[in-house]
Amino acid sequence: MLTRRLMLGGTMAGCLMPAAIGAPSDRPLRRRAAARGMYYGSAVGSYQLRDGDFADALAREANILVPEYELKRDTLEPRPGVFDFSGADALLSFASAHDMKMRGHTLVWYAANPPWLEEAVLGARDEKIFTDFIARMMGRYRGRMHSWDVVNEAIHPEEGRADGLRDCAWLKRFGPGYIDTAYHAAKAADPGALLVYNDWGCEGGEPWNDAFRAATLKLLEGAKKRGVPIEALGLQGHLSAFKGGIDRRKLVAFLNEVRAMGYRILVTELDVDDGGGPSDVALRDRASADICARFLEPVLDNSATQAVLTWGLSDRYLRGKPIPAALWGYLPRKLPLDATLKRKPVWQAIAQAFGA
Ligand code: XIL
Repeated sequence: MLTRRLMLGGTMAGCLMPAAIGAPSDRPLRRRAAARGMYYGSAVGSYQLRDGDFADALAREANILVPEYELKRDTLEPRPGVFDFSGADALLSFASAHDMKMRGHTLVWYAANPPWLEEAVLGARDEKIFTDFIARMMGRYRGRMHSWDVVNEAIHPEEGRADGLRDCAWLKRFGPGYIDTAYHAAKAADPGALLVYNDWGCEGGEPWNDAFRAATLKLLEGAKKRGVPIEALGLQGHLSAFKGGIDRRKLVAFLNEVRAMGYRILVTELDVDDGGGPSDVALRDRASADICARFLEPVLDNSATQAVLTWGLSDRYLRGKPIPAALWGYLPRKLPLDATLKRKPVWQAIAQAFGA
């Protein structure tokens, strides 16, 4: 099903005429976002910056970056007290050189931790095992980061807890209060950075999404009541073109409740899984653009929304790994540019959503 707006817009990507360079329809995403006082950007690995035409496309399209993995603790602190900031520093230099912001991802998560950490957490004497890490990371980049995903993916209603929280090592050792402690430590470390709670599962229209949204609102309401400095909700935005779908009414109502509590909203990891679709690439691309449009239209219509980041810019790199040219076009097409850096219907849907 093609959305009315996409049809009326005459920009059905399958028949999109290539725009003359500099024509309004050719305007990069960063300029469309900036025209609304917003950001468009992408997750990046520093090694990708050595790919010249990719780096040029990134500089053209994005005004914010997030390290896909180089600000995660398994990359940052592979051994206790031994830190490697080289990747994050390279990305921050690139961002600074191209008038881009950078956001941090992520400080307290159940995943992407070095092998030594989980045991250390469960045996930790106190919260310093994460508050010291927060202070060191955010202190290093103090004043230079747009925002931080301080806690990532703490919600998992399927585990059956009344608070809907995920039973991870942090919860086991410190109880639900680890979340509050993390955000207070983050606020002390860099008062100028927007502190984001980041998660997936609030986007879709299936029953499990209802439970996820309810648990997310419960977390945000409780934090507000206790004076916990969570300032924004990060909607990861991992969409599926052929599974689930978007319930616009439920999404709008949820986003309005988030805004009414005073939180800002970011789309932090947008991509579209086109698995389960037809083999025809054009049809898959159009379905991916359509679900993107159906998600972004209500999100960007909410005045609390500040940014949209995709979880990569080009299908040339998927989940942080380079795709061999022989496989380009045969693998998932999740992102705004194809592996040859050509704008796809998903790019058009994002452009249209900012333009709308
Ligand atoms: C993923 C990265 O894309 C992979 O390269 C890595 O191996 C695992 O993490 N939610 C998140 C992201 O918050 O950090 C995850 O990124 C995808 C799910």
